[in-house]
Amino acid sequence: MSAAPWLHEGEPFVWRPYCQHRTAPPPLAVTAARGCRLVLADGTELVDGIASWWTAAHGYGHPHIRARVAEQLETMPHIAFGGLAHEAGYTLARRLAALFDGRLSHVFFTESGSVAVEVALKMALQSFYNAGRARRTVVAFGGAYHGDTFAAMSLCDPVNGMHNAFTGNGVRAVHVPLPVPGDDAFEKAFAEIGRDAACVVVEPLVQCAGGMRFHDAEALRRIRRACDAQGSLLVFDEIATGFYRTGARFALDEAGVVPDIVVLGKALTGGTLPLAAAIASDPVFEAFLDAGTGRELQHGPTYMANALACAAAHASLDLFERDDYQARVQRLGDAMGARLAGLRGRPNVVDVRVRGAIAAVEMKPGTARPSTEFAARGAFVRPLRLRRADVVYLMPPLVIEDEDLNVLLDAVELECRR
Ligand SMILES: Cc1ncc(COP(=O)(O)O)c(C=O)c1O
Repeated sequence: MSAAPWLHEGEPFVWRPYCQHRTAPPPLAVTAARGCRLVLADGTELVDGIASWWTAAHGYGHPHIRARVAEQLETMPHIAFGGLAHEAGYTLARRLAALFDGRLSHVFFTESGSVAVEVALKMALQSFYNAGRARRTVVAFGGAYHGDTFAAMSLCDPVNGMHNAFTGNGVRAVHVPLPVPGDDAFEKAFAEIGRDAACVVVEPLVQCAGGMRFHDAEALRRIRRACDAQGSLLVFDEIATGFYRTGARFALDEAGVVPDIVVLGKALTGGTLPLAAAIASDPVFEAFLDAGTGRELQHGPTYMANALACAAAHASLDLFERDDYQARVQRLGDAMGARLAGLRGRPNVVDVRVRGAIAAVEMKPGTARPSTEFAARGAFVRPLRLRRADVVYLMPPLVIEDEDLNVLLDAVELECRR
């Protein structure tokens, strides 16, 4: 008798994400998540190397987040945000705006990162439309990943991404190369298309799901300059990089570049409840103002600004404020870098790189060991399998302590060395 009969009984009915059901092994049955560990149905504990798709920054079940959500549950789990307001949402919007020193202060809440990206695109496209000079193109970068909804998919890498079946079904997106030192291919490409570009969308400093590829702050400064020259808006998708993942609170702080719209998600609620936000500058917001109707932003998800999720986000922000996460990430990055450097030069290893609390071992395609092998060593690790590379990566909870981190590093070291 399996330790989790519900898994086998439910399996025929569940359509899993990114999964070839004919060949995929069953998922791991998790009965509890505590701290940095996942507890499996048979009692085994795995250290979570990817923090539930990079959300669980404070670890699982943090008492402060649980208490704040429980308190909210007592009064009001959810009300529609149209025509009604709740304190958790309004105070959270103010609090988020304060993180950007008044430069980005108009917060639109959604229930997923992909939808927040859609909203950012709608903000950009409709702001031009409202001004009577519609622009139809959005610009993104090779290697990008911005989500799985249609417009977000259009921004993802068209060649190496996973959405080829939908090419041509989304918004009009043009992909250009990221600026690299000594090469002006980006500027040349953008000069051709910039006049019709409503916005440029970029994951600042790290392209995550596209392979944990890093670029420098100068690339972002060059993109900002190109946008300014053509009057295009700049959107930073900080869904993955935000909240200290790259080192500073936001990658935009680290780069010293202010976009016109920033998109947040994932660690915003500490991985507790779904919530994301697109946050715009004054000029973007003002492009929607009018004495009559017709110019307003046409978006309003049913569960936007869910009060429980807003309460979780407040608690998550409290925790970020209470502790020195920047120092934590620095220590974490140093430890990961020191241990994984030894993998450089191994037969299947192409590159080892670390930025903030992100460590990536890029391997030849098809050579990364499956998750089951890492699990046998007590670690939950899920390599990215891209066309040109396999990437074994760690993005653990930011609060992980040495003992658990060593479980992850041992597993990665041993499995990538083979
Ligand atoms: C940079 C980036 N943008 C957008 C998304 C999509 O967010 P969600 O999965 O919440 O829709 C992700 C998810 O991995 C992401 O990493």
